[in-house]
Amino acid sequence: MEHLPLRRQVARFPVTAWEARLSTVLERSAAFSSRARELTPGGVHSNVRLSAPSIFFERGEGAWLYDADGNDYVDYLLGQGPNFLGHAPARVNDAVAAEARRGSVFGANHVLENEAGELFLDTVGWAERVRFGVTGTESDQAALRLARAATGRNRFVRFAGTYHGWLDNVLMSMVDGKPAPGSAGQLSHSLTEAYVLPFNDAAALEATLAEHDDIAAVIVEPVMFNNGAIPPAEGFLAHVRRLCDAHGVVLIFDEVITGFRVALGGAAERFGVRPDLAVYGKAMAGGWPVSALAGSAALMDRFAEGVVHAGTFNGSVPACAAVIASLKALREDPPYARLEEYGDSLMDAIVEIGRDHGLPLRAQGLPMAFHVSFGDPAPVHDYAGLAGLDLDRYAAFSHTLADHGVWVAARGIWYVSAAHADKEMAATLERFDTAAAQVSA
Ligand SMILES: Cc1ncc(COP(=O)(O)O)c(C=O)c1O
Repeated sequence: MEHLPLRRQVARFPVTAWEARLSTVLERSAAFSSRARELTPGGVHSNVRLSAPSIFFERGEGAWLYDADGNDYVDYLLGQGPNFLGHAPARVNDAVAAEARRGSVFGANHVLENEAGELFLDTVGWAERVRFGVTGTESDQAALRLARAATGRNRFVRFAGTYHGWLDNVLMSMVDGKPAPGSAGQLSHSLTEAYVLPFNDAAALEATLAEHDDIAAVIVEPVMFNNGAIPPAEGFLAHVRRLCDAHGVVLIFDEVITGFRVALGGAAERFGVRPDLAVYGKAMAGGWPVSALAGSAALMDRFAEGVVHAGTFNGSVPACAAVIASLKALREDPPYARLEEYGDSLMDAIVEIGRDHGLPLRAQGLPMAFHVSFGDPAPVHDYAGLAGLDLDRYAAFSHTLADHGVWVAARGIWYVSAAHADKEMAATLERFDTAAAQVSA
C-alpha cells in the first residue's frame, strides 16, 4: 500500500488544527475518532495516547502500520515498545493461536509454565525465580512489596523522570524541580513513600541512604528511557549496587523497557550490574501482554511465605506461549548487532537532516531506543537537563512526521525493532526529510 501523496502536500498546521485536518484527509479515522469520544474518555483507552494524532489503525506488519484510510507508516512507537520483533510476528502469533486451542487460563498450573520459566531465567542469566504478571505497573508493585517485606522498612528511593507505572505510590510529575502528584485523585500522602533524587547522582544517593534508615529499596530504570533516554553515567549503576549492599537495601531494576532490548540479558547484562529484583515487560512477549518479576530465591520465595502477589491472568497459556516463542526467536537469531547498526545510523541521519534544514534536531540514547528533540546537542544527564530542550516543538513535529508516514511518540522516544531494515530506513529518511523541510519552510 502506498503512502498517499495527498498527505505530503498538506500545508504546515499547528497540532491544535489536527482534528480539522483529520476530517478532510483521514475520513475513516475521523469517523472512528468522533465515535470513540462518545464511548471512552478522550477517545482513548490509555491516557498516554491522548497526545497522539487520532489515527485509527487497521493492522500492523513488521515495522509498518496501516491506517483505516489506506496510509502506511514506518512505526517507531511499536505499541510503546512491546513489538520488539515487529508487528504480528508469525512465529509468536502462530504459537499463541495453537496453544490457545487448549484453553487460556485455568486458575491452576499448566504444562507450558515451566518451559517459559526456564527459558526466561536462562535468558536473563542472573535470576533464580520468576513470577509472571500482565503489566509492568503491577510487577513493579510486587517488587516494592517484596522489598518492604524483606527489610521491614517502608520507603524507597527513586529518580526524577523515571516511570514505574500509574499507581498512587509511583505516579509522579516534577513541578518547578519538585515531585508533585501526576494525577488528580491521587492519594495526597502517596508521594511521601519515595525519596526522589536526580538520576545519575550517586552522591545524593549516598547521602540519602546515610541519613534515613527507613529505606527498603532503590528502584531505577537502568537507562532513563521514559524521559530523554538518558544512559547511566559510567559506573553509576555499579555505585548504586555498592551503596544498596552497604545499607541492606534491595536494588530493583525496572527493566520494563531495557529488558531483552538493550541486550538479550537486558540492562543487567549490558552494564554488568546485578540487581536483587528486576521487573520486565514489553519486549519479552512479541507484543502480548506479559510482565515478570525476577530475583534471587531468597527474596522471591517470600511470595510463598506470606507476601501476597496474585493475578487471574498471570502465566496464562497464551502468555507462556508468547514468552517461549519470543525468547526462542531472540536467542536463535539475536537482532542486537543489527539494531546497533540501524539505530546508530538513524540517530546520525536525523541530526544530519536537521542540519540540512537548519533545525537543531538532537538524538540521544541507545540504538534500540533513543530520544529525539530540538535543542543543544550536548548530552543530558538527568531530568533537570531536559528543561533546556524544546520538547514542545518536537511534540508538534511528531504530528508532522505522522502526517508524512512516520509514526513516533510525541514525548520523543523512538523504538527500533528487529523488523526494521534497509527498506524501512530508506522510507524513514525520505519521509523525515520531507517533514523537516515542511517545518523549516
Ligand atoms: C520503565 C517502566 N516501568 C513500568 C511501566 C509500566 O508498565 P505497564 O504500562 O505495562 O503497566 C512502564 C511503561 O511504559 C515503563 O516504561
